[in-house]
Amino acid sequence: MKHETFHYRTAEEFRDKLRELGLEIPLAENTDALFRPLGRIPNRIVFQPMEGCDGGTDGTIGELSLRRYIREAEGGAGILWFEAVAVVPEGRANPRQPWLTEKTLASFQQTVEKVKEAGVKKNGYAPVMILQATHSGRYSRPEGTSAPIIAYNNPLFEKDAPISADRIASDGYLDSLPEYYGRTAALAEKAGFDGVDIKCCHRYLLSELLSAYNRPGKYGGSLENRARLLLEGIDAANAATGRDFIKTSRLNLYDAFPYPFGFGTDLREGSAKRDAGELFALVSRMKERGVRLLNTSMGNPYVNPHVNRPYDLGGYVPDEHPLEGVARMIAGVKELQEAFPDLLTVASGLTYLRGFAFPAAAALVESGSAAFAGFGRESFAYPDFPNDLKKGELDRKKLCVACSKCTELMRAGSVTGCVLQDKEIYLPLYRARCMKK
Ligand SMILES: Cc1cc2nc3c(=O)[nH]c(=O)nc-3n(C[C@H](O)[C@H](O)[C@H](O)COP(=O)(O)O)c2cc1C
Repeated sequence: MKHETFHYRTAEEFRDKLRELGLEIPLAENTDALFRPLGRIPNRIVFQPMEGCDGGTDGTIGELSLRRYIREAEGGAGILWFEAVAVVPEGRANPRQPWLTEKTLASFQQTVEKVKEAGVKKNGYAPVMILQATHSGRYSRPEGTSAPIIAYNNPLFEKDAPISADRIASDGYLDSLPEYYGRTAALAEKAGFDGVDIKCCHRYLLSELLSAYNRPGKYGGSLENRARLLLEGIDAANAATGRDFIKTSRLNLYDAFPYPFGFGTDLREGSAKRDAGELFALVSRMKERGVRLLNTSMGNPYVNPHVNRPYDLGGYVPDEHPLEGVARMIAGVKELQEAFPDLLTVASGLTYLRGFAFPAAAALVESGSAAFAGFGRESFAYPDFPNDLKKGELDRKKLCVACSKCTELMRAGSVTGCVLQDKEIYLPLYRARCMKK
């Protein structure tokens, strides 16, 4: 189905479209709610983790990443959720993905110091910084070519060509990983981060395990088994760091694949109907381990990207209107926040809404449907938006247009950023890597 591109200029036009589609995306009268501090966090705007793919092959932080995070800190967001950082070398998504070890610690330390300093200098506060600890599982490409480590063969992804059995992570291998999550957490604390995210989204290893219903052994079958690595990863982070160091996760609330191949459904064979039963049981267990902050997401950026980051333009045309994707993400976080009122949730997937993203985000915070509003692609396009919004000086020409070029660059094996707004750096790269074919 080909859908119209985003063209709604007024709140009325936008609401008319929502009515036509039968969707709910409330808009607040103003965006004040986004600027209410919460504890030590200066406002409710989170810059979501966004891979820049520009680190050193040794795992150190690259110059472009440093530039990006400094710009983000100066822009005024309350939380900078640092991009995916590998816990083991074989779990890197690309050869330039940061990897935190004793050897690369200094590079992380200097980055955090410079980024926080930049925030204090510009705004009088440093953003809270969370490091996202990851194992890329089936999307591991440590040498630049696919070297998957999967939880199980999935006929929806593999079709008729199952991945060889030696690429299925053994129980022994999975048993070895919590230690690395613990080490990464300890090093993140040393580097000056405020917290660590045991990443469990987008069908990377921990997220894929959540749907390993038919995997035999201690990591498959029951929820307890499927969530074992996530929960033991949190335990390891707890054991390795101080009480005040935030332990959190970016969690897929819903994979949008049918049972038994997707987490977050109603557990009827072949059904992809979203159902929060298992999710709530899992979140209760995470809460017992001290998790208070939870970043949310959905889908798989490689297989159903429209679920993960609704967009207008790009190679693949989804079978739903992008506003349906945004509304699903909002419904998911709202449901979770209402079920766990003392949890601090982060909403995702709002960038598609252009200027309406801010009143939509404020409505979520104001109504208690989410504690924070996360912005991914917008942080690439318009890192200054928090301060501009606060001053009432938002520049609509700078907004992300959901063109997917940042993803195209990344998939082409390049460093990535906003091709349209950060032209000097990324447009020549886009021309060279993505337009010549
Ligand atoms: C280029 C690119 C890199 C991303 N890197 C990460 C990442 O490292 N970790 C993560 O959890 N999500 C990552 N995401 C997903 C975003 O954090 C976010 O969930 C998604 O873009 C939808 O939010 P938005 O509508 O605000 O952009 C990435 C997305 C893009 C486009």
